[in-house]
Amino acid sequence: MTVMEAIQARRSVRSYSSQPVTQQELESVLEAGRLAPSARNRQAWHFTAVRDAALRERLMAACKDQKQVGEAPVTLVVWAEDDPLMACGQSASTVDCSIALSFMLLRAAELGLGTCWLGAFDAEQVKEALGLPAQAVAVAVTPLGHPAEQPAARPRKAPAEVWDVRG
Ligand SMILES: Cc1cc2nc3c(=O)[nH]c(=O)nc-3n(C[C@H](O)[C@H](O)[C@H](O)COP(=O)(O)O)c2cc1C
Repeated sequence: MTVMEAIQARRSVRSYSSQPVTQQELESVLEAGRLAPSARNRQAWHFTAVRDAALRERLMAACKDQKQVGEAPVTLVVWAEDDPLMACGQSASTVDCSIALSFMLLRAAELGLGTCWLGAFDAEQVKEALGLPAQAVAVAVTPLGHPAEQPAARPRKAPAEVWDVRG
């Protein structure tokens, strides 16, 4: 599968089978994140993969009870050690972790695994559940597992609404 094919195949999956994610699959997904670029190559990020059912229940509660978190055999939390701003004024942690998670979502799609980027979560509850340091930033959460649904592609704006090719 090419990168473009993975981009085209990826969907937000909100229903999962109980089929386990192998350690090899999980580590291959995490490796895609490890290789992602980061501001000044700081790599001040962590990818916490949770298989434990009780802990996933706590994370589901922190994610506004979104059921896909309880259903998928793995919950992945992407978090940063600190929250410095870049010269442009944006959070390096948010940008770095978002790139890393994007890479992981695409690797998961390539492996036939489902994911769903979750932004609707209580960051403090996630930090508490995982025992993260006070200064840590929980940037995103995703379930990871074998899809029990094949969602249709969601609509996207037309190129003319988004692209701005000049000169
Ligand atoms: C930053 C961000 C936050 C999101 N938060 C949630 C969420 O909390 N719950 C959810 O079900 N989907 C969430 N999504 C998934 C979007 O709804 C989804 O990406 C969008 O509808 C496009 O569908 P697709 O991913 O299948 O292409 C989020 C996506 C992003 C990028």
